Amino acid sequence: MGAPLMQGWLVPPPSSPEPERPAWRQALDARIDRWMAAPALYRWAVSNPLTRWFTRRRAERLFGLMAGFVHSQVLLACVRLGVLERVFERPRTLDELATLTGVPAPALDRLLRSAVAIELLALRGGGRFGLGPLGRPVASDPGLRAMIEHDAVLYEDLRDPLALLGASGPAGMHGYWLYTEGSEAQRTRQWSPEQVARYSQLMGQSQRFLIDELLAAYPFDDHACVLDVGGGQGGWVRALARHAPGLKLHMFDLPPVAHLARTQVAQAGLEHRIEVHGGSFAHDALPRGADLVTLLRVAHDHPDEVVRPLLAAIHAALPPGGTLLLAEPMAEPDGSPSAADAYYHFYLMAMGAGRLRTPAELMALMAEAGFSHMELVPNPMPLHGRILIGRKCAGTQHSVNKS
Ligand SMILES: C[S@@+](CC[C@H](N)C(=O)[O-])C[C@H]1O[C@@H](n2cnc3c(N)ncnc32)[C@H](O)[C@@H]1O
Repeated sequence: MGAPLMQGWLVPPPSSPEPERPAWRQALDARIDRWMAAPALYRWAVSNPLTRWFTRRRAERLFGLMAGFVHSQVLLACVRLGVLERVFERPRTLDELATLTGVPAPALDRLLRSAVAIELLALRGGGRFGLGPLGRPVASDPGLRAMIEHDAVLYEDLRDPLALLGASGPAGMHGYWLYTEGSEAQRTRQWSPEQVARYSQLMGQSQRFLIDELLAAYPFDDHACVLDVGGGQGGWVRALARHAPGLKLHMFDLPPVAHLARTQVAQAGLEHRIEVHGGSFAHDALPRGADLVTLLRVAHDHPDEVVRPLLAAIHAALPPGGTLLLAEPMAEPDGSPSAADAYYHFYLMAMGAGRLRTPAELMALMAEAGFSHMELVPNPMPLHGRILIGRKCAGTQHSVNKS
């Protein structure tokens, strides 16, 4: 039962924090900091042709950090005004775009030139603007545009980053993702159908990127039955149904989301292939019978106290030899963090309860739940999510802690 182990990268268990550096090394670090921060060194370095490139690059990178918020707003304005789709139809002049967007030409000119500077747009001759290299994927993908529009909620939360760090008020992101209110709210609160539909639709639109990664990286048709936990509107199970015609499929999500998923499954004519279950993994048993459970972009929304019993419940629901596939954005291992980590650290903090974990941290949680033979499965675009698998060995049974 189950797919053979993939050619993945085995990840070492989470290491303890980096050991204290010896005193001589700390003194050297402090001296380098003082030396590199000295205005005199800066003046010397920019006047010297051999070192100028290094100092320029550092200044440009730092300026890039300062300008980052402006760049995000230029992108958001282009998306809100539909500028990218307009120039995708055909290159257009400033006056044409001013008429189409209703923004006065002098102000729009600044937006368009800013968009050229950050490669969303490009000059196409004759005073016309066309798509730049970074504008092309945005113009062609409504899901990406929905995510950019959604980021406005995060920008609002980040207007005062210290307030967010001090959790001095409820973040807008926390209100957007209703289920981050906690398990008691999931049991008792009547959420507005519009709010549930809003977050579920956004997830559905952005899930396509992860679906492509999964289908490219893992042999799903080696399994007989798949359960997707926290499956949203069922975009993944519907894609799997089309990809692997022999698979039996289940998905599980909170009742109002499961209701939306049922409609989507019925519209796709897949009721005979996909069974949709409504419930909360905080209170309800997971459906049995699947030899593969998928958990996509769910663990990072929750603290360890929620993820531990969830993984244990998945382990209990699987037969011996069954597999868990967990996929979501993950932090780069210590020592080589990527700039995307900063985005996810703050996004998940604004959501309220979850956190960005390294593959090794997730594997440690999976191991606690009883999984073994864990691997990080290579996938083409880790920015969209990384993929971990773990196996339930014959004879292992862990109790599910629902506290
Ligand atoms: C970030 S979304 C991911 C949805 C989907 N897996 C994807 O990748 O697009 C997290 C999903 O987990 C569901 N969820 C959150 N708490 C849950 C719970 N206690 N029980 C069941 N599902 C839950 C949410 O309703 C939501 O659909």
